[in-house]
Amino acid sequence: MSADKPPGDRTIRVALLGCGVVGTEVARLLTRDADELAHRVGARLELVGIAVRRLGRERNLDVPKELFTTDAAGLVSRGDIDVVIEVIGGIDVARELILSALENGASVATANKALLAEDGATLYDAAAKAERDLYFEAAVAGAIPIVRPLRDSLAGDRVQRVLGIVNGTTNFILDAMTTTGAGFGDALDEAQRLGYAEADPTADIEGFDAASKAAILASLAFHTRVTIGDVYREGITDVSAADVRSAREMGCVVKLLAICERRDTPEGPAVSARVHPAMIPLSHPLASVRGAYNAVFVESESAGELMFYGPGAGGAPTASAVLGDVVSVARNRRINVFGPGESSHAQCEVLDMGRTRTRYHIALDVDDKAGVLASVAHVFAEFDVSIRTVRQEGHGGDAQLVIVTHEAEDSALSATVAQLRELDMVRDVSSVMRVEGGF
Ligand code: HSE
Repeated sequence: MSADKPPGDRTIRVALLGCGVVGTEVARLLTRDADELAHRVGARLELVGIAVRRLGRERNLDVPKELFTTDAAGLVSRGDIDVVIEVIGGIDVARELILSALENGASVATANKALLAEDGATLYDAAAKAERDLYFEAAVAGAIPIVRPLRDSLAGDRVQRVLGIVNGTTNFILDAMTTTGAGFGDALDEAQRLGYAEADPTADIEGFDAASKAAILASLAFHTRVTIGDVYREGITDVSAADVRSAREMGCVVKLLAICERRDTPEGPAVSARVHPAMIPLSHPLASVRGAYNAVFVESESAGELMFYGPGAGGAPTASAVLGDVVSVARNRRINVFGPGESSHAQCEVLDMGRTRTRYHIALDVDDKAGVLASVAHVFAEFDVSIRTVRQEGHGGDAQLVIVTHEAEDSALSATVAQLRELDMVRDVSSVMRVEGGF
């Protein structure tokens, strides 16, 4: 609690777009902590309007009823708003509102990952033209500070790689599969029963949510525009109990990772962004991220390895990130400056998945007889894929070859798997998964 009288000479007028789980918490904290926030900003934050879809809904919020409006467009174009908080989500309406807010002189704090990943450039351009801030800490990994570290703290370093567990729903499901041996369907049912997965879980389990976050992380990390269309995406619906068991046998665990990498190619530095399930060794810090938690592991040239960990979703954690942005942009508004805009000067080539270098774990159900291993090895050699380890599990009708490759271009690895499926002595390719994290 603040002992001193808060500053009272300047007021920063704040409009809130959206009053769902996050918006309600933002409004509650703006009201409850008004005095403390005034000290931190150096000016009082006055909530002057809350745009909602429907009036009259019961809200557990102690703010004057007159603040609510269904006219979001009218609210952001009033011309006297200093800061607009956008937590309505979606693409088209949110984009119009944010652009109007900026044109009308407001800075913006948004949690809208989908919009930033699809069309961040338009928002950045509008913010630069208006000389206002566009902040979005809450768009990636909820409460975890990762946007600001990439945008500010690591702005003097060269980030090489970002590995993130940036979707709590899928981490919960994979963790449940690992802990209980359950299949994907049962683990999803449990996640829905406990409220971790939504009734329509598509955006999470198919990796769309993580892919938006990957695009944002890659853009920030590599000073290059990376959009959702550049991100390779595979969800977790095909991860089987057998994959999870295979991972355990190798001393690994299966995680859905957002992987952003910078690589020097003969043509110059290039970057890539992808989301897919991967086996990572139990010794990797990301392996210890359990339940619905998120974490982002950053490898950079000078700082070395950093990990950011915490709750990646939920009303209060996400509101924490939004309010941090509100304080920052309000401080800037108070003294008429604006913070960092888009940094895309590097303009690195964005590689497609086929040219990304990965490693595969492949389990093959095979005939247990002379020459099988030689034939299998021949396919790897054909695509110039080097085998790192190979072991046989079982024998006779239960024989399985478990192969882990060295790094190769993903196109060569997937062509190898396609060719293996054609071999007569391979009864089934029972598990194929990429391996990450220094195994
Ligand atoms: N649905 C996301 C998750 C949170 O499960 O982590 C919002 O991005």
